Amino acid sequence: MTEAVHYIIGASGQLGTELALSLQMRGERVVLSDVRRPEHADLQVLPFEMLDVRDRQALDVALEKAGATKVYLLAAALSARGEGDPEWAWDLNMRGLLNVLEHAAASEVVDQIFWPSSIAVFGPETPAVAPQKGERKPTTVYGISKNAGEQWCAWYRAHRGVDVRSVRFPGLIGHRSVPGGGTTDYAVDIFIEANATGAYTCFLSEHQRLPMLYMDDAVDSIHELMAAPAADLTVETSYNIHGMDFTPGELAQAIAERVEGFTIVYKPDFREAIAASWPDALADADARKDWGWAPKVGMDELVKIMLEAKKMALSET
Ligand SMILES: NC(=O)c1ccc[n+]([C@@H]2O[C@H](COP(=O)([O-])OP(=O)(O)OC[C@H]3O[C@@H](n4cnc5c(N)ncnc54)[C@H](O)[C@@H]3O)[C@@H](O)[C@H]2O)c1
Repeated sequence: MTEAVHYIIGASGQLGTELALSLQMRGERVVLSDVRRPEHADLQVLPFEMLDVRDRQALDVALEKAGATKVYLLAAALSARGEGDPEWAWDLNMRGLLNVLEHAAASEVVDQIFWPSSIAVFGPETPAVAPQKGERKPTTVYGISKNAGEQWCAWYRAHRGVDVRSVRFPGLIGHRSVPGGGTTDYAVDIFIEANATGAYTCFLSEHQRLPMLYMDDAVDSIHELMAAPAADLTVETSYNIHGMDFTPGELAQAIAERVEGFTIVYKPDFREAIAASWPDALADADARKDWGWAPKVGMDELVKIMLEAKKMALSET
């Protein structure tokens, strides 16, 4: 068996940074690519290529040159930025995905693709706990593109034999990278401000409940799903995975218990409507059954980890 070469597209982003660090820690061969250089100091030693995933020819050359066997497509326009520029978001999210799927279908070297979907595939008509199967009627540009992306992945799996694997991520919360323009970004920003100024102005309302996931659990989910035997995977589209769910009010309360005098004010903006269209939680029994999904970090632990990490980061600046 040839040694795996992990190729991350969109490696300088919030998730890409963490996935790259994790693969590096595991001693895997990793190649990074993005339209901007990675910022994390530990990633400077890894091979990096400037690559626009919308450029099919450049993508083919880059993946062949690297000998990529596992491709992680993380370049995307996220929910908040996508609403402001629908054509750019659709083009990046769809062209990028089709380019990677087409490359994989024609390649004898690429053996697996990971492509993340999102809770944004659900819409206002979805029950509060989103089921794995059932109608999806997203109302955001981002959600429409993720929904179409899920169906494209299913099509390439069924008709072109591409082993593409996917989960529906909730909001991701980590401390080694910064978020890239999503609706759940408040749940990272709040920790930075809690340590820096002791106060936070939240762009969602106090009671807007959303599903969330600690970043290490998100990265583990990628490793676990990629390692699962194909025969065990029964979901045709993307797996629901759930970590925890909370409102800004509940998160602020948990922070206030650890940061004396912490205050929060709520000034909901356009992102409130996006959040309101998403479910509170995801039913993830299929992921648990098929490939052993089990998140390790809940809200209390998350608050402890994030406050500690952001305090250290502040003391180093
Ligand atoms: N972060 C979350 O909370 C979350 C939740 C659900 C799903 N996801 C999904 O996970 C994936 C990664 O998200 P993220 O939070 O790391 O996003 P991000 O915005 O932080 O990172 C995306 C990266 O893609 C790069 N990029 C943009 N245009 C590109 C192009 N044309 N070619 C190559 N690279 C390009 C950006 O420079 C950026 O570094 C996305 O598919 C996103 O939809 C993220």
